[in-house]
Amino acid sequence: MKQKFRSLAKMMETTGRIVIVGVCLTLLASSPLWAADAGQAETTVRNVCSTCHKFEGEPESRFNLKAPDLMWADSKYQHTWLVGFLSGKEERLYAKGYRWDQGWEPDAHVTLPEDQAEEIAAYLEKQYIDPRVQVGAFDVSKVSKKEAEFGAVAYKEHACIGCHTIKENGQRVGGPQSVDLAEAGRRYNPDWLYRFALNPQDFTPHSGEFLADATDFGVRAVVGYLMTLGVPDFNYDEPWESPEFSQASAERGKVVYKEYCSQCHGATGEGDGPAASGLSPNPAVHAKMAFDKLPMEYLYNVIYHGGRSVGKSPTMPYWGLTIGRQGVADVMAYLKVTFKGMAESTPSKTGTGPSGVCPQPRKTKLAPGKFRNMTNPLPATVANVKAGETLFQQTAQPLACFNCHGTRGDGQGPMGAALNPPPRNFTCGETMKDISDGQMFWTIKNGSPGTGMMAFSNMPDNQIWQLIHYIRTLVE
Ligand code: HEC
Ligand code: HEC
Ligand code: HEC
Ligand code: HEC
Repeated sequence: MKQKFRSLAKMMETTGRIVIVGVCLTLLASSPLWAADAGQAETTVRNVCSTCHKFEGEPESRFNLKAPDLMWADSKYQHTWLVGFLSGKEERLYAKGYRWDQGWEPDAHVTLPEDQAEEIAAYLEKQYIDPRVQVGAFDVSKVSKKEAEFGAVAYKEHACIGCHTIKENGQRVGGPQSVDLAEAGRRYNPDWLYRFALNPQDFTPHSGEFLADATDFGVRAVVGYLMTLGVPDFNYDEPWESPEFSQASAERGKVVYKEYCSQCHGATGEGDGPAASGLSPNPAVHAKMAFDKLPMEYLYNVIYHGGRSVGKSPTMPYWGLTIGRQGVADVMAYLKVTFKGMAESTPSKTGTGPSGVCPQPRKTKLAPGKFRNMTNPLPATVANVKAGETLFQQTAQPLACFNCHGTRGDGQGPMGAALNPPPRNFTCGETMKDISDGQMFWTIKNGSPGTGMMAFSNMPDNQIWQLIHYIRTLVE
């Protein structure tokens, strides 16, 4: 209450009408006459909320307003957030005050008891529907982890973070000019957010807003990302579990392969299509890949979102726009039934199974000096080696190392034979003794340019060092 009066008193300096607001609200809060009906809600909106917010007319510049326009109040918010905001349970949206140009401080918003907040929210939701917002325009259940990841990158690359704060590791980051987006996923109706993104000036013109150069695909990625913010248990879509995959057809996939993939990967998957001669790295030799042993998520992402999305070369195109989810499902079905790869060597370290070539020819780019001379800062404890093993054999993202380097480290994983140059043979002491810890660290982080070794740029440093400890144990 004190908070509120302080804020109201300050705003009196700007406009005398606010005094009435204060009186009204005080009455409302204590009045036994407040009845849970729409009539009362309407009166409150008219007499109280409208003193600051506009509920009709054209959208206007923030520099002419006292508070954000609410003509689209229904279409914009999620009910729970709106009730929470009106009953004072949400943080302020404009850290520097809505009218920073007037020197307004960001004081607490007027608050209502929860039952009244419910009534007002219900009233707004019936009354202020924006016909421009198409119901179902953005389906939150179709946002995959990879799309949200793209959205997060685009959010920074398109300067969104320059004017809107988000939370990273519990801290607010970014420029607090406009609305805070840390809780966007709990706040916005995704259909409104999507419509807003198509043209912000339809809602907040001449307010400092910004039009980004983005395709519909890019806009959807950013909206998808925003819808994950403030939602810790966000339910990501897994496209490879979708109906498109249960009805995938290898027959149709064969046609897709001929029309789109063979130009690089070759008609029979030998990596010898007409474009291949000009490409570095070489397109993977599909004929030598054990497709049914590779994780669906990885294959889906590398085909739908392209090589770059998994730390590989951007010359592997992103096919999503061209062939859609069904096309990707079909071509994956074709790859699985057609290419079975070579048998992997026996997964025993002391076994007599075939090892990769040793010594192994090696043309890997030299790491910059400061990396080359680094030594592993972690002790070679059992725990660190074990952690490295788990990453190598199971959990490393976007793809566990064994898929190329083999479970024994001999370079003969389900995808090893498809790559030229081949994956490093970690069992070969003669080759490995000349590769420093720092050189390995650099390659794992950045990939090896012109080869199939991808960049693990999102992997924390200590995990890379744990992997290096494990790799050192693989020498036979
Ligand atoms: C004294 C002026 C004032 C009054 C009265 C007022 N508001 Fe606000 N309202 C604001 C300001 C300023 C903001 C920006 C809030 C922020 O920075 O957190 C805001 C924000 C909001 C928002 C979020 C807007 C957005 O950015 O999407 C909603 C919803 C809202 N108010 C509803 C109401 C309702 C309903 C009432 C009446 C019960 C009301 N307000 C009364 C000043 C006011
Ligand atoms: C130069 C500053 C600036 C940049 C960059 C910027 N915005 Fe904004 N944004 C604004 C302003 C100003 C508004 C209008 C709302 C207001 O009055 O603050 C706004 C409004 C919004 C809103 C609606 C807020 C609401 O609740 O009414 C969203 C969502 C949004 N921006 C997202 C983005 C995204 C996503 C990007 C990156 C593509 C972006 N913004 C880039 C300044 C910026
Ligand atoms: C413009 C050439 C080109 C076309 C067309 C192309 N690819 Fe590729 N593809 C590549 C290159 C180059 C690589 C190796 C990328 C790397 O290792 O960084 C690759 C790698 C792959 C991989 C293996 C990923 C890995 O981890 O090495 C798969 C699977 C794949 N492509 C599937 C497809 C499918 C399916 C199509 C058709 C829908 C297709 N590609 C069309 C160039 C192409
Ligand atoms: C998609 C296949 C693939 C995956 C997955 C992969 N690698 Fe590689 N890796 C390669 C290839 C191919 C090379 C050979 C590169 C070269 O010749 O420069 C290589 C080389 C290396 C090298 C040798 C660098 C040098 O200087 O000689 C290290 C170390 C390495 N990988 C570690 C890893 C680790 C750790 C992982 C998992 C986190 C991993 N790789 C996952 C394909 C892969």
